[in-house]
Amino acid sequence: MNVVVARAPGRINLIGEHTDYNQGFAMPIALEERTTVRFEPDGSDVITVGSTQEVGRSTFALQAQPGEVEGWAAYPAGVVWALQAAGHPVVGGVMSVTSDVPIGAGLSSSAALECAVLLAINAATGTNLELLEVARIAQHGENDFVGAPTGSMDQLASLHGEVDRALLIDFEDSSVTPVVFDLASHGLTLLVVDSNAAHRHSTGEYASRRESCTRAATALGVDSLRRVQGNDDAALLERIDDEVDRRRVRHILSENQRVLDCAKALRAKGFRKVGELMTQSHASMRDDFEITTAHVDLIADSAVRHGALGARMTGGGFGGCVIAIVPAEDVDAIAGAIEHDITRGGFPAPTVFTARAGAGASWS
Ligand code: GLA
Repeated sequence: MNVVVARAPGRINLIGEHTDYNQGFAMPIALEERTTVRFEPDGSDVITVGSTQEVGRSTFALQAQPGEVEGWAAYPAGVVWALQAAGHPVVGGVMSVTSDVPIGAGLSSSAALECAVLLAINAATGTNLELLEVARIAQHGENDFVGAPTGSMDQLASLHGEVDRALLIDFEDSSVTPVVFDLASHGLTLLVVDSNAAHRHSTGEYASRRESCTRAATALGVDSLRRVQGNDDAALLERIDDEVDRRRVRHILSENQRVLDCAKALRAKGFRKVGELMTQSHASMRDDFEITTAHVDLIADSAVRHGALGARMTGGGFGGCVIAIVPAEDVDAIAGAIEHDITRGGFPAPTVFTARAGAGASWS
């Protein structure tokens, strides 16, 4: 049987947080950093996985059920489980994983792994699926095998990535519209500040945010918050008794509008406006959705104070990375000033790098 290789990138979400499972809007980019899976099918009924980022190898049965596979191997095992649940063939063999997507930084190392594993298996079995179907199967594995109640943004971004394009996603129909995102041609750079903060509570907190949104939608008599997007927000919010849920909804509705405004500003090359919307998004995540931490708040504030056009935490929250749009000539000065502020604030030094929008997943 032939060896196959599949690659899938991590992602940065430019704007639109926790909107995916509310059928709203988001605008991520795929990263140049990616996960590569080399798969040697052997026709057996087990898959053995090893990774240069993890110690030791794991073997799981093709028939493994939720709860039976522990650690990072649950992600590939979840893909195998979900592929079969959707009626597609799988095959045993040996998978070797390499990746330069940072793990646990909110840059979707898990979606990159899932998509690369899934595309490698499909290449080995000669299965050709629409990207939307690939995203849905990977998400099903993550939700119901791994047990993380996430949406589909990360997988869609990893699969649809395009060089120098942001991806405007409408989660009502999962349509993806590329929008030119070429900061370099405008003397700008996307700075990524990884707080290096472990986000231990992320799963429980993520689930509780999702429950708030579901509860509020029920209170409003709709199946999704998307149904009330664009209504008179103040009057609408008064119909939600729970004060906390009300603020969660305010974040979702205002964030959806910011995504649309941001796409408009990007098309008009209005980068100042893009920056303002990013900073507003951070404030909404901090005050209304309450998914930031004092640590990432300090990084975002510091970036703006030292000359970024805008800055916000990216990803599910409770740690991870802050992104900022900065003048290219000031990258080093701003990065240095942020590092200084963060360590003076008593936090560990961040890891700072720059990012560009890269291509989506591929296989051979
Ligand atoms: C995580 C999830 C995504 C999305 C973001 C928040 O990355 O995997 O589905 O909900 O959080 O926007």
